[in-house]
Amino acid sequence: MSAEAGPPAREASPPAGTLLTDRPELYEARFPDPGRLAGRWAEDCLRRHGAGPRVLDMGCGTGRDAAHLHTAGRRVTAADLSEPMLAYARTHHPGPEYIRADLHGYDVGTEAFDAVVCLDSALLYCHTNEQLDRFLSSCRRALSPGGLLVAEMRNGAYFLGRTDLLDAPVHAEFVRQGVVHRSVTTLTVDRTAQLLRRVRVWSAGDGAPPVEERSAWRLLFPQELRHFLTTHGFEVLELHDGPGPRTEPPWREGLPPGRTADADRLHVVARLARP
Ligand SMILES: C[S@@+](CC[C@H](N)C(=O)[O-])C[C@H]1O[C@@H](n2cnc3c(N)ncnc32)[C@H](O)[C@@H]1O
Repeated sequence: MSAEAGPPAREASPPAGTLLTDRPELYEARFPDPGRLAGRWAEDCLRRHGAGPRVLDMGCGTGRDAAHLHTAGRRVTAADLSEPMLAYARTHHPGPEYIRADLHGYDVGTEAFDAVVCLDSALLYCHTNEQLDRFLSSCRRALSPGGLLVAEMRNGAYFLGRTDLLDAPVHAEFVRQGVVHRSVTTLTVDRTAQLLRRVRVWSAGDGAPPVEERSAWRLLFPQELRHFLTTHGFEVLELHDGPGPRTEPPWREGLPPGRTADADRLHVVARLARP
């Protein structure tokens, strides 16, 4: 990380460790993306809007999307707060430069990038307005004029009048190296904090004791996101609920961006205004 004049030096907040961020191989087994749909969707957004080659992937996780963008010819820096994720990414998805940085305020140099991408709800780990402001200020500083922000996340508006994701715990299981891993996930809405809280209990068929983890995403509404972006000097080019890498049906090459923001995923492409 560079030491240019940016936000006051802050101690990065401790990583929100979960079983999956602490064991990235399980993350990829639980959420496989063999066709690199998320990376291809991000590359499509960058290409359609004429982004230059320098890309920063914030909240890069296992690095598979960053590595896809690298393979597509981009010069990629990828950042996460989780050391296990970064170690895994360096080994399993080489190509990008991997660094530790906090979404809640980071400093990677001025005008160092043509685009920032932030996939699979990583942006929603900014829980408070202050954290969102610091994230967008950091993006603005990192981007060259005309640079893009491409993000994909849950849609807070989906939960207005719908309870299907809240009504019952979701059971999932997958097998990795002969061990069955089971999870039971319960989502609740914390209206006061405007957070979607998640409790997930993991158990594995290898005799290890069950693990309970708690995390949360900001419930961010499309018009609220638009307001944050415009306040920080971005022009919103796309803001829609799909098709995207995690929609049903999923995005595929050639499909145009949608016009509604009603379903459970939100996709945004915004351009930093030129001075
Ligand atoms: C759901 S994963 C998404 C990973 C990746 N973008 C993908 O689409 O596969 C969210 C990632 O955000 C990271 N994360 C959570 N809070 C963060 C923070 N404050 N700063 C940077 N990364 C953070 C986690 O470590 C995790 O790797």
